[in-house]
Amino acid sequence: MKNVLLGCTGSVAAIKIPEILNRLLENPDIRIKLVVTEHSKHFLPELATLANERVDIHTDQDEWTLWKTRGDPVLHIDLRKWTDIAIIAPLDANTLAKVANGFADNLLTCVLRAWDFSKPVIVAPAMNTCMWEHPVTQPQLEIINSWGFTVLPTQIKTLICGDTGAGAMASVDDILTAINTHL
Ligand SMILES: Cc1cc2nc3c(=O)[nH]c(=O)nc-3n(C[C@H](O)[C@H](O)[C@H](O)COP(=O)(O)O)c2cc1C
Repeated sequence: MKNVLLGCTGSVAAIKIPEILNRLLENPDIRIKLVVTEHSKHFLPELATLANERVDIHTDQDEWTLWKTRGDPVLHIDLRKWTDIAIIAPLDANTLAKVANGFADNLLTCVLRAWDFSKPVIVAPAMNTCMWEHPVTQPQLEIINSWGFTVLPTQIKTLICGDTGAGAMASVDDILTAINTHL
């Protein structure tokens, strides 16, 4: 069994999470923990229905409800230990900035801040073209790439907001190919 941590952030591309999950589950040797940010939940109205015997869902709240006293589980550390491979899809501009600069203010960024760099991380950025072309974006991508994170290229297309250009999340096929390469 391989343990896959699937992180989801507040890009509209989060609507692809059910498809990514289904494709991952085609491999019977994969277990998944889906870690969602608070804003990403907005794009996943059926979030609870995505859980099953091979998919657990974790939110920021879990981190705080699980720990009451010494000896209780520290979720972000347990998730890092559990994980064989992490994929953050979509990675939005906000979480990219936080991760690249060492911020750890929610469950997902805490997992990545406490990361064991012997384990692979794949990220699929997704953002508006102007966000993508903003001068702050590429240096942040270069930082996480220098740590060994695999940064999947964005696609050029007409985005859901109506703008046309780079910044669309890599296709689900490309995301699955990247994961399978590491597995
Ligand atoms: C409808 C909508 C779509 C959004 N799409 C994106 C997006 O594709 N990429 C992005 O970087 N931010 C996008 N945002 C902005 C993020 O949701 C916002 O920066 C949020 O604070 C991200 O929080 P998180 O990184 O904790 O998930 C969108 C916001 C809204 C309201």
